[in-house]
Amino acid sequence: MRMLSFQGGDQMPSLGLGTWKSKPGEVGAAVKEALRIGYRHLDCAVIYGNEKEIGAALSECFAGGLVQRDELWVTSKLWNDKHDPSDVRGALETTLADLQLEYLDLYLMHWPVALRPDGPRPMAAASFFAPEEMPIAATWEAMAACAQDGLAKHLGVSNFSVKKLSELHAAATHKPEANQVEMHPYLAQPQLVQWCKEHDVHLTAYSPLGSPDRPAGMMGKDEQPILEDKVVLDVAGELGASPAQVLLAWAMQRGTSVIPKSVNAERLAQNLAAAELELSTAQMSQLNELDARRRYITGEFWCVEGGPWTVERLWDE
Ligand code: A2P
Repeated sequence: MRMLSFQGGDQMPSLGLGTWKSKPGEVGAAVKEALRIGYRHLDCAVIYGNEKEIGAALSECFAGGLVQRDELWVTSKLWNDKHDPSDVRGALETTLADLQLEYLDLYLMHWPVALRPDGPRPMAAASFFAPEEMPIAATWEAMAACAQDGLAKHLGVSNFSVKKLSELHAAATHKPEANQVEMHPYLAQPQLVQWCKEHDVHLTAYSPLGSPDRPAGMMGKDEQPILEDKVVLDVAGELGASPAQVLLAWAMQRGTSVIPKSVNAERLAQNLAAAELELSTAQMSQLNELDARRRYITGEFWCVEGGPWTVERLWDE
C-alpha cells in the first residue's frame, strides 16, 4: 500500500473506504469488515448521515483490539450550512462525538458553497450566502483554530478548483494540505494534479468507480458507466483484474489517494487488493487518453435560479 506523507510525517494510506451512500444498517458492518481485512483509512462526512453508526463500529473495533486509533486515518467534512466561523467548532465537535473520536486525522471543507442554516429547503436562491457574505477564508480560519486546539491533525478542502484552492492557499497562514475531488479517467484533471504537486497539496479521488449507486436525481441522461468502458475492460482483461481494480490502481499510481465505497465483503476485499496491482506505462497512457472532462457529480444541485452559483462558477471552467 502506498502511503501519502502529511506535515509532521503522518501517513495516509492511499486506499480508503468511502462511506457516502452507505446506508445506516449497512455501514457499521462494512466498516468492521473493512478494518478486519486491513483497511486503515476511512472517509466520512456529517452529511452522509451515518457517522453515529460508524462511531459505534469503530469503538467496537478499538475495544476488541482489532486496531488502535493511531493506526487509523479518519477524514470527515464540514457541511455547507456550518460555514459561519462561530458554527465550525460545534460542527466538528458533533462529528467527533458521533464518531466517538478525540481527533480527526483530516477535516475538510466539504464544498466552497455556504448555505444559510435556516434557509429554504429544497434549494432556492435564499438558501445560499453569496460568496462575499461568507468568505471561504473566514470559515477556514475557524477550522485552523480547531486544528490548533488538536481537534483535527490536518486540514483540507473538497470540490475546490485550482482557482479557489490557489486563492485560499495564498491567503491562509495554515495551508490546506488536501483537496478531495471527483477523479477517474473520464475526469483526470491534469492541471489540478500538477498544481497540487507543486504546492504540496494531496489529492483524494472520490467517486472513482463513477458512483453508480448515487440517487436518481443526480444521474445524467445517457451516462456512460466508466466501469463498462472498453479500454478499462481491456486493461482489466490483460491483468486478470476487475475493472474497478484497474480504476483504483490508476488513481494510486498517479500519486492520489482513492476512496471507493462498498458495503459488500467481496468487493471490499477486491478493492483493497487493487493497492497491489501495477499498471504498465502503456496501460496508464491508454487510461489517461480517456479524459473527457466528464463529471458524474456535476454540482448542478447548487445552481438555482437567482442564486450565487452556476456550474461555471463552481468549477471555474
Ligand atoms: P457496493 O457498495 O454494493 O459494493 P463510488 O466509490 O464511485 O461511489 O462507487 C460505489 C459503487 O460502486 C457502489 O454501487 C458499490 O456497490 C460499487 N462497487 C464498489 N466496489 C465495486 C467493485 N469492485 N466492482 C463493482 N462495483 C463496485
